[in-house]
Amino acid sequence: MPDSMPDSMPDSPYDLAVVGAGPGGYVAAIRASQLGMRTVLIEKHPTLGGTCLNIGCIPSKALLHSSHLYRQTHEGLAEHGITTGKIAFDLKAMQRRKEKIVASLTGGIDFLMKKNRIDVVTGHARLDATGAIQLFDGNKNRGKVEANNILLALGSKPVMLPDALLPSALADERRVLTSTGALALASVPQRLCVIGAGVIGLELGSVWARLGSEVVVLDRLDLLAGLDEDTSKAFQKSLEAQGLSFRLATTLLSVAPSKEGLAIKLQPAGGKHDTLPETLQASHALIAVGRKPATQDCGLEEAGVACDERGFVEIDEHFRTTREGVFAIGDCVRGAMLAHKAEEEGVAMVETLAGHRTLVDYATIAGVVYTEPEVATVGLSEREAKEQGVSYKLGKFPLSANARARTSNATEGFVKLLFAERDTRLLGAQILGAEAGTLVQELVAIMAYRGTAEDIAQICHPHPTLNEALREAAMQGLGRAIHL
Ligand code: FAD
Ligand code: NAI
Repeated sequence: MPDSMPDSMPDSPYDLAVVGAGPGGYVAAIRASQLGMRTVLIEKHPTLGGTCLNIGCIPSKALLHSSHLYRQTHEGLAEHGITTGKIAFDLKAMQRRKEKIVASLTGGIDFLMKKNRIDVVTGHARLDATGAIQLFDGNKNRGKVEANNILLALGSKPVMLPDALLPSALADERRVLTSTGALALASVPQRLCVIGAGVIGLELGSVWARLGSEVVVLDRLDLLAGLDEDTSKAFQKSLEAQGLSFRLATTLLSVAPSKEGLAIKLQPAGGKHDTLPETLQASHALIAVGRKPATQDCGLEEAGVACDERGFVEIDEHFRTTREGVFAIGDCVRGAMLAHKAEEEGVAMVETLAGHRTLVDYATIAGVVYTEPEVATVGLSEREAKEQGVSYKLGKFPLSANARARTSNATEGFVKLLFAERDTRLLGAQILGAEAGTLVQELVAIMAYRGTAEDIAQICHPHPTLNEALREAAMQGLGRAIHL
């Protein structure tokens, strides 16, 4: 990637300067260029792609895939009549494969920038009071970039525990890890305590459990809070069967160094005054208690760009901030912290700037947890429907009754659909099972076209596929399931 200012800065301001080359920023830059805007992309990290490509979605999925293959080869082949010799893994090679994938994808973004004639500038961008972008390399000011419009796609970073729970000096990515450290370990942690049973905790907890770590997951609430209880309970059972153990509804009291590595003191579930705190020993801890917007040190206050009390840039429905000509999208604004949400917002923002009226359909943004089984959710959960007083009906179908799932030993889990009682319009879904992240897209399409359970029931699905379970779930809700 170019590591300096373009050979000559243009005489007139750019039409659009995008700050942050994650999936929100780089996709917006490409769309802007397609729409004829002269665009510059500013990124402080040496490679493009943001959290997602460098330290998020992509490296985590690479390790999830490798560790899944190892576990499957180790435990899942005998039943198929396949015998193997001694199975082992080489973590260095696994990590090298991950790095190669990351490098090829981030390099691909360099190519896309060139192809779309987008200037790329490396440096830390800070807005000044005039609305220009000052570029810094450490403390050194390297000049300014002028643009008629600025898009902030600043992304997010891990939330750290307060000093009272975890002294900040301990959080050095050696024993106490964030997701970044947990993706780069050079050896398998003997006993990993995951603090936070959210998406990161469960995905990376799964990786290390599959490779031999003893993994304990602790959360002050439930796992993946927001899932319906039936999905959450079945998911927990499945992860427990894979060797992860859970301490839910548990209060973390402290993390401190100990002879074994770390002493993690907690107040067990239901912790009344008579329940004594417990101490877990662990070799490593993964802190996965959420992410926060990376909006500090970007000159937002000086430029009159307001943030809310949690640091998210305040925007209206067209991504306009409180400063004219400055917009914001992705993880640094409200809403789900997901790569595809950031991309949707980036495209919508740029198209709106170009005079189109593009809106993001937030109700159809699915969330997927790439564990085994996967969990995919879209739209309303049953819990939310109850809270909102929505009249709904449910359709549910177990994967154990799906022929394809039987043939591929993927019988764990179910499809659960929520649809309007009045006209069967699909309102939401939760899928627990193999390929849930792929299956959910059929439901996303149905929801995007305001389709109904009746529509799903009437569409012919190829046999034998896992997708038939979606149709059967719809038919079950309509009172006419065939295979139950
Ligand atoms: P980011 O990708 O965070 O990019 C922001 C960029 O802005 C960064 O490159 C940063 O260096 C740059 N930047 C910030 N400030 C400045 C500045 N002042 N000057 C110059 N550059 C600046 N999401 C999914 O949808 N699917 C997944 O499977 C998934 N897996 C994940 C796994 C992990 C371990 C993590 C941590 C996250 C995962 N996510 C996943 C979330 C996803 O990575 C984010 O939602 C997504 O990257 C947000 O995109 P963004 O463009 O808003 O910000
Ligand atoms: P999260 O919000 O998913 O989960 C955080 C968990 O930590 C919650 O369950 C919460 O109850 C718990 N917690 C908070 N404070 C705690 C404390 N003091 N003690 C014990 N538990 C505590 O956040 P996570 O997993 O860090 O992920 C951050 C973001 O990254 C997510 O919002 C997600 O959108 C994104 N991401 C998406 C992925 C995907 O789409 N597959 C994969 C990984 C991350």
